[in-house]
Amino acid sequence: MSAPAGYRIVSLDQSRSHEMLTTVEWAFAFKLSPEAMRDVVPWDHVRGLEAVDATRGPVGTIGGVHSSHTMTLRMPGGGTVPTSGLTWVSVHPAHRRRGILSAMIADHFSRALERGEAVSALYAAETAIYPRFGYAQATVKSTLDLGRSPKLRPIEGSDDLPVRIETVDMSVHADVVRAVQRRLDEPGSPVEMGDSVVHDALVDITTRQPDAEDPRIVIVEDAHGPAAFAVLSREIKWSETAAAGTVDVKVWGAVDAASARRLFSVVTDLDLMASCKVTANGTDGLLLQLLEDPRGVGMRALDGMWIRILDVPAALGARTYSADVDVVIEVTDALLPTNEGRWRLSATADGTPTIERTEAPCDLALGIDALSAALLGSTSVETLHAVGRVTEETPGAVRATSRAFRSDLPQACNLAF
Ligand SMILES: CC(C)(COP(=O)(O)OP(=O)(O)OC[C@H]1O[C@@H](n2cnc3c(N)ncnc32)[C@H](O)[C@@H]1OP(=O)(O)O)[C@@H](O)C(=O)NCCC(=O)NCCS
Repeated sequence: MSAPAGYRIVSLDQSRSHEMLTTVEWAFAFKLSPEAMRDVVPWDHVRGLEAVDATRGPVGTIGGVHSSHTMTLRMPGGGTVPTSGLTWVSVHPAHRRRGILSAMIADHFSRALERGEAVSALYAAETAIYPRFGYAQATVKSTLDLGRSPKLRPIEGSDDLPVRIETVDMSVHADVVRAVQRRLDEPGSPVEMGDSVVHDALVDITTRQPDAEDPRIVIVEDAHGPAAFAVLSREIKWSETAAAGTVDVKVWGAVDAASARRLFSVVTDLDLMASCKVTANGTDGLLLQLLEDPRGVGMRALDGMWIRILDVPAALGARTYSADVDVVIEVTDALLPTNEGRWRLSATADGTPTIERTEAPCDLALGIDALSAALLGSTSVETLHAVGRVTEETPGAVRATSRAFRSDLPQACNLAF
């Protein structure tokens, strides 16, 4: 799809950073720190829709922008898939509902495919925006308040792990974040990534109150190096009788239960702090399962990362399958016709799969959004069938495919982008 009437699509490098940031500020109604944004925006991928017709606004003004991070995501079975992390999707209020987002998505898909990225991933500002483009919820994000020193299940060796508590310093801590990410097993976790994603995890992009403390980082190490980290900021508050400060954990990751337990025993026991706000994944994640009283943390589950398959054989071929499977899947994809049609997926349990075009009759049919929902194993094919998003043509095909797509580990994406 080309640009809507009156606009053209252009690349925006850092010489036009002011226009890009202004568009983002208008779209999201917040004020950004230009210094922080210098490192957080993947400038090599920024695209804009520029007015070329005065009826759309002064010629040369930017109506909308987007960019994308380079990354790989962990897949079931331990492999990774090259992924484009769509980000900074912003349309100026004066230019909205003219098809700019639709044009940006088409532009994003074709450029990501040119770079060999088989999946697009994003966090949605509003859930109504992205399903029409084939995106589906892939992880769940729960918000919790751990309070002060919640009871955590004992894990052998956890208390002995060394901990560092430092002020965030990109030149030191970017490597810590990368080291932990490479060790994360959960499908959906970013594994390798461009600097912009790491910087986004570490810095505060909005303009800060002058008296706000600098972001801090807690790091747990084990015999293999960094095993867990949490980036947090504290805010001191007082009740009439006691200190009632809050800890806001912006992002965290832990490679196993021992490092997660050590991390949260420190993060929830900082002096003068009474509450500790954090996000966790699903109900099956390490943090939820470490808590002896999961109800006491006021869990609220929200959609986390959304994904969209751009290249069916590359995406399905990047994971393993939990059971033997030999199934013909008919895919519909209105935006990327190269995905349309019948694909034969054959795999033995945990073996290398093959995905080939076929003319054989299909066993089940589904849209690219439903296939994207199933990719990491977070939504079962059975459930997608139950709600009418998968059609079964061969009796038993849904049950067999559902078993194969299951993942042993819970899905999680601990970085937002
Ligand atoms: C969301 C946003 C990017 C949409 O941009 P836009 O250029 O107005 O979108 P388009 O004109 O291409 O709309 C495409 C379709 O999506 C629909 N749509 C767009 N935004 C929507 C929203 N927030 N909720 C529901 N539907 C939406 C449009 O109605 C249109 O539907 P149609 O094809 O049936 O007519 C823009 O409103 C925006 O910048 N919002 C604030 C920032 C934001 O939320 N960004 C997304 C970050 S994840």
